[in-house]
Amino acid sequence: MAMACRVVSSNLVILSLCLLVLPCLSQGQGLCPFEAIYQFGDSISDTGNIGFINPMGPCSNLPYGKTQFGKGVGRCSDGLLMIDYITQALQHPLLPPYLQNSTETNHGVNFAVAGSTDLDTDFFKERNVTWKNSQNDRPIHDQLNWFREHLNNSVCKTLMPTECARKLSKALFILGEIGFNDFNWPLKSGKTVTEMTAYIQPIVQKTTDAVRELIRQGAVRIVVPGLFPMGCFPLYLNHKGPNAVTLKDASGCLGPFNQLAKDYNKALQDALSLLGKENPNVFILYGDYYTAYESLLRNAPGLGFDDPLKSCAGNCTNPSKYLIFDHVHPTQEAAKHLAAYVIKETLSKIPCAQ
Ligand SMILES: *[C@@H]1O[C@H](CO)[C@@H](O)[C@H](O)[C@H]1NC(C)=O
Ligand SMILES: *[C@@H]1O[C@H](CO)[C@@H](O)[C@H](O)[C@H]1NC(C)=O
Ligand SMILES: *[C@@H]1O[C@H](CO)[C@@H](O)[C@H](O)[C@H]1NC(C)=O
Ligand SMILES: *[C@@H]1O[C@H](CO)[C@@H](O)[C@H](O)[C@H]1NC(C)=O
Repeated sequence: MAMACRVVSSNLVILSLCLLVLPCLSQGQGLCPFEAIYQFGDSISDTGNIGFINPMGPCSNLPYGKTQFGKGVGRCSDGLLMIDYITQALQHPLLPPYLQNSTETNHGVNFAVAGSTDLDTDFFKERNVTWKNSQNDRPIHDQLNWFREHLNNSVCKTLMPTECARKLSKALFILGEIGFNDFNWPLKSGKTVTEMTAYIQPIVQKTTDAVRELIRQGAVRIVVPGLFPMGCFPLYLNHKGPNAVTLKDASGCLGPFNQLAKDYNKALQDALSLLGKENPNVFILYGDYYTAYESLLRNAPGLGFDDPLKSCAGNCTNPSKYLIFDHVHPTQEAAKHLAAYVIKETLSKIPCAQ
């Protein structure tokens, strides 16, 4: 994880202090004791907001949730998500979705919404990109508004701004994965993968704007995950387009789709690296979801998965044999492995609060 090292090394003094003096490795897996966790993003990390926005939608109903909950709970999976495993590893209860209006928010809140984009809807309208569930979408901009609202009405209600910032400095912020839908909706509405190159910088810009806003509010520990190798998702692999077969590379994935994700991830890492230099007291870590997924694909047979490029299609008998539950969302079993990778490679490298 070159990125993590580069950003953290600009905080070398603080880092080494932490390693020498503070109980950095006090918790089970060498993880810091964060006071709270705040998650922003899309369906990869939505623990139920979509269920309040669209109770009739797929993720709110079976077969979603069948493995873990026996009913749909607004998670786009058969069970737990990566963020659920991360939350558990950090010894916190599962994060309540913001729209649940839970009073138990001391441990953090989840603002992610399935289907959400980084870019605002106007960006897509101007480019003739429309999709049928766009009214459910809560772009990152809206999620940040919710966050400010939450600070005002709950976590920082009785605190001075400096006290609020101090409280947030002990929390973990995870911004993403987000950006997949910014590519997926246009691709579904007929844009080509090549055309998507022009979307990379605007999306990265939105992500970094969001990180800046979190920093302004007091965030000091921020993980920004990149995109998965989307060319390995059954969503695109099963696409019947004329080029679908010829686009496949040696691993059976769609090369140009993976290249798009790689190009985006590279641009994101470059932007985060700059942001880290601008904010030497803030720890901004890139979350390498791409490599996490690649590693899972590679190790899938040994881990008991069947063909890792095939999806369970929502109604297979044993979702734990598949990486993907529907056509794009990891199964609970896959999420468990992906989370373990991120915990080991990224979360364990965050220096602890003093
Ligand atoms: C949460 O609070 C808002 C604002 O008061 C309200 O509109 C909404 O219905 C509440 N949602 C739930 C699930 O209680
Ligand atoms: C969007 O569609 C309208 C109507 O078909 C067309 O006139 C316009 O040129 C299109 N704009 C772009 C950016 O493709
Ligand atoms: C939060 O409170 C401040 C001060 O009362 C106010 O200026 C701001 O508009 C509020 N923001 C939100 C999102 O409620
Ligand atoms: C069940 O799986 C089949 C393919 O195996 C698929 O065509 C169908 O849409 C799936 N049904 C549901 C409800 O997901």
